[in-house]
Amino acid sequence: MNQIKFGEIMLTEEAIQKRVKELGAQITKDYEGEEIFVICILRGACFFTTDLLKRIENNVIIDFMAVTSYGSETKTSGVVKIIKDLDTPIDEKHVLIIEDIVDTGLTLHYLMDNLKTRNPKSLKICTLLDKPERRKIDIEADYTGFVVDNRFIVGYGLDYQQKYRNLPYITCLEEV
Ligand code: IMP
Ligand code: MG
Repeated sequence: MNQIKFGEIMLTEEAIQKRVKELGAQITKDYEGEEIFVICILRGACFFTTDLLKRIENNVIIDFMAVTSYGSETKTSGVVKIIKDLDTPIDEKHVLIIEDIVDTGLTLHYLMDNLKTRNPKSLKICTLLDKPERRKIDIEADYTGFVVDNRFIVGYGLDYQQKYRNLPYITCLEEV
């Protein structure tokens, strides 16, 4: 992208919070009586994670992982590297990965493979956004906030060159 501008607001703060509440209720029901080990994928998922966890009634343990997919700006190369690993083991835990967006699916595919080797009791994915058009690998989240079309999205955790994460709504960037 050379010159960019904001497009329309795709999801308002109210729409996001309404959906977060629904997802929290669904997760509470599905994991009834169980403790959930939540893995927040930094940095994009941190806004979504904190809002969502307030809507989950189960006991929750939170830990963080940071990954980079090599490549820059708006393109993913598919090579994933863990730059911050979990502080706690997940064996025999009900693990729920929280992501901001599933795009090509390469990041989550790598993470799932990696986490499966650590012997969790169960392993599920909750993503705020899903951009199925760009999928390169067959992977689907167990919980999805919203399906979006193939645009470059920012706000509510999602960035462009580390900017715009703190917008309370979700918008897109367009080339000028
Ligand atoms: P994937 O490996 O292609 O599925 O990419 C996952 C990561 O790419 C996400 O966790 C985001 O950090 C980033 N990403 C993908 N699409 C977008 C977007 O539209 N806006 C901002 N970041 C994105
Ligand atoms: Mg990310």
